[in-house]
Amino acid sequence: MNRYSVVVVGMGKRGMHHATSFNANPRFQVVAICDIDNARLDAAAAKLGNPKKGTDAAALAREVKPDVFCFCTLPNLRTPMIQAAVFAGAKLVAFEKPVALTSTELFTVRDLLKKSGVKAVVSHQHRYGAHYQKVKEIIASGALGRVHTIYGSATGWMTHMLSHLIDYTCWFNNYAPATWVMAQAAGRAKLADNHPSPDYIGGFVQFANGVRGVYECGAGAPDQPEVAKWWGKNRIGAQGTEGFAEVLTNGGWRAVTKSGGFQTGEGAMNYDLDMPPYIQEMADWLDDNNKPHQCNLENASLGAEIMLAMQRSVAEGGQVCLPLFSKADEQALLKAKLADRPVLVSFDQNKKEFGLG
Ligand SMILES: NC(=O)c1ccc[n+]([C@@H]2O[C@H](COP(=O)([O-])OP(=O)(O)OC[C@H]3O[C@@H](n4cnc5c(N)ncnc54)[C@H](O)[C@@H]3O)[C@@H](O)[C@H]2O)c1
Repeated sequence: MNRYSVVVVGMGKRGMHHATSFNANPRFQVVAICDIDNARLDAAAAKLGNPKKGTDAAALAREVKPDVFCFCTLPNLRTPMIQAAVFAGAKLVAFEKPVALTSTELFTVRDLLKKSGVKAVVSHQHRYGAHYQKVKEIIASGALGRVHTIYGSATGWMTHMLSHLIDYTCWFNNYAPATWVMAQAAGRAKLADNHPSPDYIGGFVQFANGVRGVYECGAGAPDQPEVAKWWGKNRIGAQGTEGFAEVLTNGGWRAVTKSGGFQTGEGAMNYDLDMPPYIQEMADWLDDNNKPHQCNLENASLGAEIMLAMQRSVAEGGQVCLPLFSKADEQALLKAKLADRPVLVSFDQNKKEFGLG
């Protein structure tokens, strides 16, 4: 079988994870890599079998015409990368969460991809962890009775973590659409971060199937004392009439169900284990249109709209209707709205992470 050719842009942490995992899969070959940092580019090339190198992603893609254009740059770069992929004739674009920082950009990239027919995948790959899979299995089995609530909390800030929380809970809820959102936020320290965010955001979501979503992200989100790793203090789950099941990103899973009592198991987020199935599903989808990747843009977009609607609710007040029908610059709205008061933390470790001493 032919190997799909791949260009990977951004040779940082996630770019290296992607490039290594593509090369480890016999269906793919990384033929070119790109970074604006030449030292990084050289170091990466040596580890990846010396593919072609370039510092201009669009020019490299035009020259190489890859089947797959993958970019793992920071969240500020979306439209030019997706344009580069589409104009170079790529069959699939793989990129990192969050889908977009603003709904203006979300609409632009989504329209571009839809018009061009290029497949797109967003890296919400934690779901392949055995503990995430177990929680999904329990929820899907019906053991929780009627699921009425899905929830996610993370101490990591919004642009890093909220996309993950919402996507996995939407997966638990079979990607039922959301109909409205209401949220609040506090703290300006992370607005200047390369993952720009309010220091704390929390909100409620109404899903069309009657399920309630509850999310909070950042300095005010609760500690998960069972989890040592700060970035892994994420609790993501579902409650039903007959029990609950939840995953802790770096602390396994636990559930209580009517018929099974208390159950628990191990699991911790692990890129080496999560990337191979994420990459394999790209080959499956490229081979067969009837086998869409579970991290496809359509699924990821549902979460992106919820995340952006939460920010609009912060800025404008009240409930925000979904799906979004108008564009906005949610980053600018947050900057204009957030009060200039330090965030109040939920436990001491968050003070350090949010620059509060
Ligand atoms: N899915 C996950 O589990 C997960 C985990 C961590 C980070 N992320 C996401 O991955 C993305 C990248 O994060 P990272 O930690 O790898 O960042 P990083 O800073 O380590 O790497 C980004 C790289 O992009 C390069 N770059 C910047 N502009 C460029 C351009 N115009 N052309 C080519 N290269 C350019 C930088 O030089 C850098 O090497 C972010 O969106 C982040 O949110 C996802």
